[in-house]
Amino acid sequence: MERTAKPRVFVTRRLPEPAMAILHEHCAVSLWDNVETPIPRDELLRGVAMVEGLLCLITDRIDSEVVAAAPHLRAVSIMAVGYDNIDRAALAARGITLTNTPDVLTETTADLAWALLLAAARRVVEGQKMIERGEWGPWYPLQMVGQDIYGRVLGVVGAGRIGQAVLRRGRGFAMQLRYHNRRRNPTLEAEIGAEYRTLDDLLSESDVVVVTAPLTAETRGMFGAAQFARMKPTSIFVNVARGPLVREDDLVAALRAGRPWAAGLDVFEREPIGPDHPLLTVPNVVLTPHVGSATVTTRLRMATLAAENLVAVLYGRPTPHIVRH
Ligand code: DGY
Repeated sequence: MERTAKPRVFVTRRLPEPAMAILHEHCAVSLWDNVETPIPRDELLRGVAMVEGLLCLITDRIDSEVVAAAPHLRAVSIMAVGYDNIDRAALAARGITLTNTPDVLTETTADLAWALLLAAARRVVEGQKMIERGEWGPWYPLQMVGQDIYGRVLGVVGAGRIGQAVLRRGRGFAMQLRYHNRRRNPTLEAEIGAEYRTLDDLLSESDVVVVTAPLTAETRGMFGAAQFARMKPTSIFVNVARGPLVREDDLVAALRAGRPWAAGLDVFEREPIGPDHPLLTVPNVVLTPHVGSATVTTRLRMATLAAENLVAVLYGRPTPHIVRH
């Protein structure tokens, strides 16, 4: 049956123009018209009251309260690959479809993992700070020495799309590749040449551990004191997944104790973190503000895809990006 009126949708942030244009063409759009600031809870609850579609970000908690406030809601589209801020059971109970934006950010996020990895290994941030403080003295043999990456062991925990892209880059550095997933992946092993390890073995064998696992009830807090204690005193720990996978207090203590040797982190238990965060009291960390997918091209592709996903679901068209409940 032909639709007579455009479906109503609510968007929780002003998105880049190409995405807004797609939404306006196909939908009656209402919007939290702000680029930088997340929508307050009461505005969100009010905003969803009359709509069939919701386009949201990782900063919005979409739970049973939101679902109850949205009696007509049929589709939720998140502009992200991760959707741990969304209560999928609450959506499933009402038959609401959830879509996300995988693939378009894979290579960009893998690049950031490598940026953190190399910067941590070679003390890039520490070096710049030393220069800024006017503390760069004459060259001496062990001045600012770091760790080699070339030919070492790279272990990825949660080798999905992004983790596999991280592993592929390791081939260019002649690294020995290891991965840990819930289940072994023979295709990954054959195509990338990575060997499966239990988590404990991966941690003790790897020179670099990169976390790319999703945040679930199972993975929350999976890196704590016991896991860091298994790592080599020369190892580097990188997290570009979600902060709550790591017990941050344990990581700070572990870094102080020298195992791991350094860390590169793009995500934190509670974001945004401030200048008083304990991680900033240890010298051997490189921190970025959750920018794994933050390139112009990728963020535009994510926003556009999120808009296309929402339109597709509301118009009953196929989209490959439906998250299975
Ligand atoms: C994601 O897509 O899940 C990122 O964390 C935000 O780009």
